[in-house]
Amino acid sequence: KIVVLDFGSQFNQLITRRIREFGVFSELHPHTVTAEEIKEMNATGIIFSGGPNSVYDEKAFKVDEAIFELGLPILGICYGMQLMSHALGGKVEPADHREYGKAEINITADNKLFGDLPKDQVVWMSHGDLVTEVPEGFEVIATSTSCPISAMQNAERGFYAVQFHPEVRHSVYGNDLLRQFVFDICGAKGDWSMANFIELEMKKIREQVGDKQVLCALSGGVDSSVVAVLIHKAIGDQLTCMFVDHNLNRKGEVEQVMKTFTEDFDMKVIKIDARERFMNKLKGVSDPEKKRKIIGNEFIYVFDEESNKLKDMDFLAQGTLYTDIIESGTATAQTIKSHHNVGGLPEDMKFELIEPLNTLFKDEVRALGLELGLPEEIVWRQPFPGPGLGIRVLGEVTEDKLEIVREADYILREEIKKAGLDRDIWQYFCVLPDIRSVGVMGDARTYDYAVGIRAVTSIDGMTSDWARIPWDVLEKISVRIVNEVKHVNRVLYDVTSKPPATIEWE
Ligand code: XMP
Repeated sequence: KIVVLDFGSQFNQLITRRIREFGVFSELHPHTVTAEEIKEMNATGIIFSGGPNSVYDEKAFKVDEAIFELGLPILGICYGMQLMSHALGGKVEPADHREYGKAEINITADNKLFGDLPKDQVVWMSHGDLVTEVPEGFEVIATSTSCPISAMQNAERGFYAVQFHPEVRHSVYGNDLLRQFVFDICGAKGDWSMANFIELEMKKIREQVGDKQVLCALSGGVDSSVVAVLIHKAIGDQLTCMFVDHNLNRKGEVEQVMKTFTEDFDMKVIKIDARERFMNKLKGVSDPEKKRKIIGNEFIYVFDEESNKLKDMDFLAQGTLYTDIIESGTATAQTIKSHHNVGGLPEDMKFELIEPLNTLFKDEVRALGLELGLPEEIVWRQPFPGPGLGIRVLGEVTEDKLEIVREADYILREEIKKAGLDRDIWQYFCVLPDIRSVGVMGDARTYDYAVGIRAVTSIDGMTSDWARIPWDVLEKISVRIVNEVKHVNRVLYDVTSKPPATIEWE
């Protein structure tokens, strides 16, 4: 196992992820871990991550210096390099100007870290301070124009450090460098897989829960589904899931969720029929933000009320991912944005949290889901907003309008799947704008709704482009929607990127 110590860089979890991709288990730990604790973890190597501090800051993140005496190889990255240098007697100074972006380094001495990699390579730098003198016993192994000590080593003790970020894709040979460290220097084996992760997490869950009871709010999305199945595998019927039907799900979804979890996985799922409750709350409301708030709050009330009826629930399981954590800020990483999720529950809840996915990225969760035997429809489900169809029926939400958008959306999903585009398009759905227009059907005048199709490509939802769906596929979708969905006589295609538009219409 490779232990990565977190000094607050936005990239720190990327390091553990790259190493897991090599088939070696790796975990991120706070920089406050002690040498004794690392010894107990059976680590084969340690990586100090980057971070925003300067080693001279009063509040600079420190490390237990006994870690240097463990006899384990250590790789320092960026701040990690400065920290290693500072702790072992080298010199760190502010750079003349901060360096941020691509740089070319030159390898100046034979060493195990760069191995046979090219002597000149492009790397990604991002730092304010520099190591200007290496500690005793160290030698410089790479230089660049603006950073004369770009990498250093004390091969005898197995200490290596680089000023750049090998975990970032822009460092062309960064991945190879990490690989050399993990295999050639630490001697890791590379026999770890998702199956091991499951075993390990099951053990942790059992230890944490003991003979107590766990409650999980199941939404049918990838994250909550994977969490529920993983925990169920660990503790069986000590897990109770709660699924709130707020009437804002897509066609067929409630049934699919119930079938998958109660029948295929034999789990305890309580379905709360809150359809009327949500519809009553939404009556007469057309402002998007008000609708979002109402749906979010109502979800919390329902969940709170219903969970109070259940006795002896001690734990609440949540499908928090690593990205949710960094986006909302951690003890060491700065806040980028606070994420908006209807599943977000109030802080004063009486539960203790279990979040077994909080070290994983979305694609790792998908791999985990497949390994756990979840069906592809769930594992590859597109992102779906917490407020559901409530923000896809524009303006006031009524039963009739929900029905229209549900049916149109179902047709869209069917045709996109038939055309084999469902994995390429990041998100695709129908919206129902609050407009009607004139049409003609079988010689008669109609005055009916227009349905909007939104389909986008994106990496993370932060920015997106409209998907270039082939005309003939769009034609099929349009014809089917107008023919099969009552009260629709026109279909529109949204050709706006984000920004300036958002993906959802409300
Ligand atoms: P926008 O509309 O902001 O959406 O461009 C970006 C992505 O986020 C999803 N989305 C939400 N997800 N709760 C969520 O969990 C929400 O309140 C919410 N609003 C939007 C949206 O579907 C898209 O994938």
